[in-house]
Amino acid sequence: KSLYKKLADCKRCTLYKKRKNLVFGEGNPYAALMFIGEAPGRDEDLKGRPFVGRAGQLLTKMIEAMGIGRQDVYIANCLKCRPPENRNPLPDELDSCRQNMNSQINIIKPRVICTLGKFATQNVLNTEMSISKVRGKFYEYQKIKVMPTFHPAYLLRNPSEKKTVWQDLQKIMKELGLKIPRG
Ligand code: URA
Repeated sequence: KSLYKKLADCKRCTLYKKRKNLVFGEGNPYAALMFIGEAPGRDEDLKGRPFVGRAGQLLTKMIEAMGIGRQDVYIANCLKCRPPENRNPLPDELDSCRQNMNSQINIIKPRVICTLGKFATQNVLNTEMSISKVRGKFYEYQKIKVMPTFHPAYLLRNPSEKKTVWQDLQKIMKELGLKIPRG
């Protein structure tokens, strides 16, 4: 049975009660680059697709700035179901969903994972370190390189940090052999 089908009626945590749609993740199953966010928001819950709201539109632009498109990468979240009122994920929810995310990573086997924001970074790297401390450097998760950076929702509130994230994305591009535009 595919992971997607196994997850369809997931009740490992209580978030299933209020979800409209489980947001599995989407993109290229052979992607060299995987983005991992926190959890679905309202738009994602309604559509059943990751990063389709305002933060998602910014993520799409970030991917396009790298000279590739959403169809070239894989996009998933730590939690597959929306926390009520977009509250922060709870530790036991992250624990319940961790196996799902690990399975996805093991299926995609990307060369690089970009974790978006505090929760995805701490969850994937199993650390308590702050995002401002760890961002911009490569770490490893099961031999896969992990680049933590700020979450696009944070960039919507702090647009001056966009240049910081662009530096982080350029490190990923270099690692993947993508051409970095001059300028
Ligand atoms: N924020 C996230 O972390 N993930 C989404 O899918 C949308 C917004």
